Amino acid sequence: MDLIKKISLFVKDNVDHVQDKYLTIYEDVSKINKDIGMLFANIHDIINFYANDFNARIGSHFNAGDSRDYLKVIRILSSFDAMVKDSEFEFCLDENYKDVLKNAEPHLKMNGGSDLPVDLPRFIIKEYDPILFLKSDNKFRKHNQKSFELILIGGGSYANVYKYKDEDYNQYFAYKKLKKNSSEKEIIRFRQEYNIMKKCENPYLLKVYKYFDEENSYNMEFCNYTLASYIKENNTKISKETRLSILSQFLSGIEYIHSVNLSHRDLSYNNILIKLDQFQNPFVKISDFGLVKDDTQKLTSPDSSIKGTFIDPCLQSFKDYNFKNEIYAIAFIIIFILYGRQNPKKDDCVYPVIEKCLSSNLDDRYDSLQDLKSDLNKYLASF
Ligand SMILES: Nc1ncnc2c1ncn2[C@@H]1O[C@H](COP(=O)(O)OP(=O)(O)O)[C@@H](O)[C@H]1O
Ligand SMILES: [Mg+2]
Repeated sequence: MDLIKKISLFVKDNVDHVQDKYLTIYEDVSKINKDIGMLFANIHDIINFYANDFNARIGSHFNAGDSRDYLKVIRILSSFDAMVKDSEFEFCLDENYKDVLKNAEPHLKMNGGSDLPVDLPRFIIKEYDPILFLKSDNKFRKHNQKSFELILIGGGSYANVYKYKDEDYNQYFAYKKLKKNSSEKEIIRFRQEYNIMKKCENPYLLKVYKYFDEENSYNMEFCNYTLASYIKENNTKISKETRLSILSQFLSGIEYIHSVNLSHRDLSYNNILIKLDQFQNPFVKISDFGLVKDDTQKLTSPDSSIKGTFIDPCLQSFKDYNFKNEIYAIAFIIIFILYGRQNPKKDDCVYPVIEKCLSSNLDDRYDSLQDLKSDLNKYLASF
């Protein structure tokens, strides 16, 4: 029997009703094979149905009925895995889910229920992103040579970001890939994001390396953290000197961006990345130029709807975005770098600068980044 037929029978035997929400997550997979899309959606649906309950019961008793359902999912996963092994339908499971299921399995009992030890890993529940991936979809072949296994590390509605290890360099690289059913307009925008980053030459802007036409993807330097995750993880440990160094790198990066007549338009804690050197010192890498506006060219789409994370209330149309609007987002980032919190306080030593950046009268805001920097330096003397 050929594999497609076997898969179809397997799905008939094992899949019952699946919620639409989960089918939507696996639309891309369904386009390759409808049955596999259904199976992935069903497995995701069942696991998630019990996952919150499972997290809550760690350290206490887990019912036999629930255990049986988990064991059934584990059995389906492993027999499907055996069936498609070494075929184009080989798949993998989200690292966290894999870890939780593997660690829980010895404690799941068909009868009588069981106690779940307190030190079991918990589900980081995904409700809108896939937890099952076709491996063929998860590989990237560089220059027709070897292929690399991609590990998902981030992404949003239009692209996914992965990391992979290139043994030639013995280091990780990041790889951003546009989602499959992207529109022509999104492809053009994605290329522009790459082209602009490629043209920029500044140590505080993320380096991109090569665009791959067939996949609509590009590779770039890998960063250990986003500004958000770096500060969250280290907030109590970061010295004043380190905060000032991060701030000065960030502002230098922005100064460069503005000096080449660009506005980033999407500055946020997650679009500023942090790369650690061998001594664990943080280096700022400004990234995600997906909404960049190039004042030297007519790149910006006529779409005037406002996007981004920090939305300046003074901005009427996204087309009109300029330096003064960027200053608004910069203020929040300055506060976050210096104090590790989202909002300014009146007794912050830099508050007068922040107030100017956020002023509802654009004329009161700084005229250039140099002006902002020199004013900021005065107030930072008492940081
Ligand atoms: N070079 C990189 N190194 C490490 N993580 C990255 C890298 N690029 C992106 N990421 C992660 O992926 C997330 C999404 O990437 P981003 O380029 O901002 O895409 P989007 O346009 O979907 O926001 C980032 O917030 C970050 O967590
Ligand atoms: Mg982003």
